[in-house]
Amino acid sequence: MLSWGMPENEPATIADLPTPALVIDRPTFNANRVAMDELLPGDKLRPHVKAFKTTALAQQLADDGHRGFCCATPREVEGMVAAGLGHDLLLANESLDVARLGALADQANITVAVDSDATLDAAVAGGVRSVLVDVDVGLPRCGIDPADAGRLADRARHAGLEVRGVMGYEGHLMMVMDPNEKAERVGVSMELLLQASDDVGGDIVSGWGTGTCLTNTWCTEIQAGSYTLMDTDYGKLGLPFELALNVVATVISVSKKGWIIADAGIKSMAMDHGNPTWEHGDVFFLSDEHITLSPTNMNDWKVGDRVRIQPAHIDPTIAKHEQMWMVEGDDVVDRWVVDLRHW
Ligand SMILES: Cc1ncc(COP(=O)(O)O)c(C=O)c1O
Repeated sequence: MLSWGMPENEPATIADLPTPALVIDRPTFNANRVAMDELLPGDKLRPHVKAFKTTALAQQLADDGHRGFCCATPREVEGMVAAGLGHDLLLANESLDVARLGALADQANITVAVDSDATLDAAVAGGVRSVLVDVDVGLPRCGIDPADAGRLADRARHAGLEVRGVMGYEGHLMMVMDPNEKAERVGVSMELLLQASDDVGGDIVSGWGTGTCLTNTWCTEIQAGSYTLMDTDYGKLGLPFELALNVVATVISVSKKGWIIADAGIKSMAMDHGNPTWEHGDVFFLSDEHITLSPTNMNDWKVGDRVRIQPAHIDPTIAKHEQMWMVEGDDVVDRWVVDLRHW
């Protein structure tokens, strides 16, 4: 678990941080944990580490009683095992590179999602011991036709694997704003998953995410990760989770024409869900290393000031950083390594 606490020569306050810096407000993160525990206690939540890619953060969730985790890459699974968090890991994604995980089968409980004969064959050849059948519930991404799920499960059992159940990810519905429309469309996805579950067998019906975690009434476990730290996109949904993550930058130039420039560009922040947000004015645009901001009051800003930017999408934002700094107010209280990056 790569967490330091803060030794004496480390930054003491936000003003001391090298920028751009990924900063987590620890009280808000802790409040999000509490809110999720009330909603989905214990094994009803299988947190998805793809959102935060940090074993020190995952350890906190395990301490809360969420002992099983989802991973999106073999690398994430390996990192979780190395950190002693291998109680029940699900690679909730298709991969042909799974011999890496078969090699860990004596050290950890690893289940791999399959949606085709080819991915099942790779699991068998790679020494994987258990699988979930990943079902197409409407997102144009991975997942087998529900009508074919039972056949794949039979083949897996015939090959000697344990089939633990089904999973489905309805990512296309996360940002549906109208609660009634969302409930109806999630219900349609769920019917597909339950139909496959009847044919596949096993105990697990795994799925959904932060954007639909309030809507689920059928899954045995929810795969959510973004709720821990949140972003401005999910912030629009009125979920019981608050934004805990900022990219902190330093003002490096002030223009008399009415804008200021800070040192956090798109190499430090994902833009796939749109511009980030700034509480003291508008975000004009980002380039590689710069963010250009239009402050509500220009007189408030000078070179050297710090700005806190709120990204629209946390997963790819975090993946751009080597570490996250935990803060309480302006005090830096810990540094966590983002140790599950890369592939
Ligand atoms: C397979 C899978 N499950 C669940 C999720 C949900 O994650 P989040 O908490 O970001 O909604 C994702 C997100 O992309 C995913 O790919």
